[in-house]
Amino acid sequence: MSTPAVQIENISKFFPVPLRRQRVQAVKNLSLVVEPGQVYGLLGPNGCGKSTTLKILLGLVTPNSGRALVFGKDSREYRSRRDVGFLPENPYFHKFLTAAELLSFHGRICGLSGKKLTARIDELIDLVGLRDARDRRVGGFSKGMLQRIGLAQALVHDPGLIVLDEPTAGVDPAGSHQIRDLILDLKKRGKTVLLTSHLLEQVQEICDRVGIMARGEMIREGALKDLVRVKNQTEFVIENSTPELAAQIQNLVAASSASLIATRQPERSLETVFLELTAGDR
Ligand SMILES: Nc1ncnc2c1ncn2[C@@H]1O[C@H](COP(=O)(O)OP(=O)(O)OP(=O)(O)O)[C@@H](O)[C@H]1O
Ligand SMILES: [Mg+2]
Repeated sequence: MSTPAVQIENISKFFPVPLRRQRVQAVKNLSLVVEPGQVYGLLGPNGCGKSTTLKILLGLVTPNSGRALVFGKDSREYRSRRDVGFLPENPYFHKFLTAAELLSFHGRICGLSGKKLTARIDELIDLVGLRDARDRRVGGFSKGMLQRIGLAQALVHDPGLIVLDEPTAGVDPAGSHQIRDLILDLKKRGKTVLLTSHLLEQVQEICDRVGIMARGEMIREGALKDLVRVKNQTEFVIENSTPELAAQIQNLVAASSASLIATRQPERSLETVFLELTAGDR
């Protein structure tokens, strides 16, 4: 078996509450494994410990107990971060750098230089849809633009594991769509992605596995298909049906031991309608 991309073993984390003899348990005995090439979604209500878990994995927060490994290396060692790209929850960048300068700065930190770095910057700026803002200072960027440049920054050294804390927060539907496609493209190229999100519809489109947390604990974990499947129901979508055909089907079902629970017209998502209507503006 190959080494997991992410292996989190029984981590717990407390934060003291200043001036009170209390502490917040942000993460409680949490374990999870992400295999290489998977897209894994970590879900859960606000404050349930998702970002803290990611920060522990990145070595930014030290757990009180347990350990986290990235491609087999302990997250407390700096070497574990060589092959990881991270988009934090609230990315903060040097305000006076332009988008291209910021990527150049991060690229240099990761050991890139010369023509290779210049080509990579152009490629990433196009990839996240910021060509028009390439030479603008990031201090003036909107929330969605910051998110996009943050994503480009996470990808600059073409890492094997990409950790994204709410990658589409604040991004418009077309931008979210692009980011979704980008994540699927990363998966196609064999990359591993660990992300958190509150946009469950998107999670459902891109994740292979999901973990659902509550109050610091993992309450459900598994392959997405297994989690969402309604096991004892079958759905048919029929084009150009007639009232007669519908009646025949209903009669057939009535004569069997099965029961018809609902017939309905499929609906398009609001996102699809929005994207169609705004296609000309993009
Ligand atoms: N540096 C810190 N100091 C004190 N408490 C913290 C700190 N970081 C996180 N916490 C607390 O730990 C708990 C988990 O926070 P965390 O940010 O991990 O949640 P989350 O699942 O990412 O939530 P959200 O969906 O809102 O991003 C919260 O109660 C939070 O207040
Ligand atoms: Mg968070």
